[in-house]
Amino acid sequence: MPAHSFTLDHFPAAADDRTRAWTRAVRQAFLEPDPTPARLEYLVEQTVADDATLVAAYPDGEETLDGERRPVGTCTTMAGTINLGAGLLPATLFTSATVRPTHRRRGLLRRMVEDALVRTSGAGHSMVLLTATEGSIYERFGFGAAVWRSTLTVDTRGGLPLRSRGSGQVQQVGTEWLVGQAPAVFDRFHEGALGSVSRRAAYTDRVARENDSDRFDRAVRGLAHVGDSGEVDGFAFYRSLEGTATVEVLDLVAATDDAYLALWSTLGGLDLVDTVTFPRASADEVLRHAVSDPRRVSTTLVQDELWVRVVDPAAALAQRAYMPGLDESLVLRVYDPLGHAAGDLRLRVADGVAVVEPVVVDGAENRAEDGHVDEDWDLSLDVSTLGTLLVGGLSATQLARSARLVARDGAALAQADRVFSIADTLRFYSHF
Ligand SMILES: CC(C)(COP(=O)(O)OP(=O)(O)OC[C@H]1O[C@@H](n2cnc3c(N)ncnc32)[C@H](O)[C@@H]1OP(=O)(O)O)[C@@H](O)C(=O)NCCC(=O)NCCS
Repeated sequence: MPAHSFTLDHFPAAADDRTRAWTRAVRQAFLEPDPTPARLEYLVEQTVADDATLVAAYPDGEETLDGERRPVGTCTTMAGTINLGAGLLPATLFTSATVRPTHRRRGLLRRMVEDALVRTSGAGHSMVLLTATEGSIYERFGFGAAVWRSTLTVDTRGGLPLRSRGSGQVQQVGTEWLVGQAPAVFDRFHEGALGSVSRRAAYTDRVARENDSDRFDRAVRGLAHVGDSGEVDGFAFYRSLEGTATVEVLDLVAATDDAYLALWSTLGGLDLVDTVTFPRASADEVLRHAVSDPRRVSTTLVQDELWVRVVDPAAALAQRAYMPGLDESLVLRVYDPLGHAAGDLRLRVADGVAVVEPVVVDGAENRAEDGHVDEDWDLSLDVSTLGTLLVGGLSATQLARSARLVARDGAALAQADRVFSIADTLRFYSHF
C-alpha cells in the first residue's frame, strides 16, 4: 500500500461548494444515498447553523480520475456545552469523522483526532465530546465512554400504572409548530440535567423530517406539555409503526418532572397501542421507577453513547460539581499516551468547591510519562477513565473492578467514591 501524506483543510461551514463536497463525502462514508440538490442545501444550512469548523483531508499529489476534487477524510468540530452540575461547561463536539475506504488505515483518523485535541486546547476547552458508530475506535485516543443509553420497551396494555400522572396539561399539537418550540424547552432541560450536552441546531427538526427528505414526516405526531406557568416545558415526538400496535418515541424532553410524567402518562394511554418503545432513552430512565409495576418497562439494549476526552484535567476537575459537605484531598496520577492530560494532580474538595493543582516534586511538575516511581498517589488511571469518572458514568469502585483504575488502597477508593459521587442519573438526549 503506498504511503500517503495528507493536507488538512480547515474552513467554516458556509453555503459554498467546499461545504457541499464535504457534506457529500460524509454521507458517502455513512452509506447514505447521494442527497438531492434540495436535501443537500438543507444539510449545508444545518451545518452552517452549528457554526461548525469543517476539516477536509486531501491526499498530497493524487489526481482523481474524473477530475473532481473530493475529500478523502472529513470531520467537524463545534463549540458546545456539557452539564456536570456546576453550570454549563464549554466543550468541543467532534463528529462526522470519516475516511474513504480507499485511504483507510493509514493514520488519517488519528491525524484528524490529534489535530482536534490541539485545537480544543487552543480554544480553552477542557474536553472533547463525541458519539461513536463503533465502540472499539476511540479509547486509543483517550476517550472514555461516560454516558450510556438504552432502548426501552414499555407495555402499555390497559394503560401505564404511573405513581403520579404529573400536573399541567398535555396537548396534541402540529409537528412544525412543536419543532419551533423544542430548542427553548431543550435549553431549560439542559440547564438542569446532569450529563446533558447541548444539541445541534437542527436536532429536533431532523427528528420530525421524512428520512432523507426535505419534508416533515406526516406520520410523526407531537405532544406538548404546558406547566403551571403557562409555558411549554416538555415535548414528545412519536410515530406509530405501520401494521403494529407499537408506537416509537423519537424524542422526549421534559424540563420538569411533572412534564415528564404527564407526557409518559399520555403516551401510556394511547388507544390501539400495546407497546411504546423509546430507542434513545437514558441508561437508567426514571420511567422504570415511576411505574408501580417495574416489569412494564424493559431495557432491551444498553450501549455507550457519550464519550469524553479530557485535554485539561485541572480545568475539567475544577469545573465539575461536588457534593456539599465533603472535605477531601486526593492525588490522581493520569496517564495519557498523547500527552495532553498526563501528570499528577492534587484535587482538594471542600464545601462543593474544588481546587486542583499539579503535584510538584523537586521543583518540577510530576509527569506520569516521566517514569517517576514515587507511589504518592491515591488513584492511578488512564485519561479515558478520567473522562468516565469526571462525568460520573461509573464510580471509582466500578472502574477499579473493571481494571480501569488502580487505587492505593481501600480507603483511597472509598474516598474517590465519595468525591466523584453524583446525586442524579445522567441524562443525555443529544446524539450528534
Ligand atoms: C472509522 C474510520 C474513520 C477510521 O479511519 P482510518 O483513517 O482508517 O483510521 P486510522 O488509520 O487513523 O486508525 C487509527 C487507529 O484506529 C484503529 N481503527 C480505525 N478504525 C477502526 C475500527 N472501525 N474499529 C477498530 N479500530 C479502528 C486503527 O486500527 C488504528 O489503530 P492504531 O493507531 O492503534 O494502530 C473509517 O474507517 C471510516 O470512515 N469508517 C466509516 C465511518 C465511521 O464509522 N466513522 C466513525 C464515526 S464515529
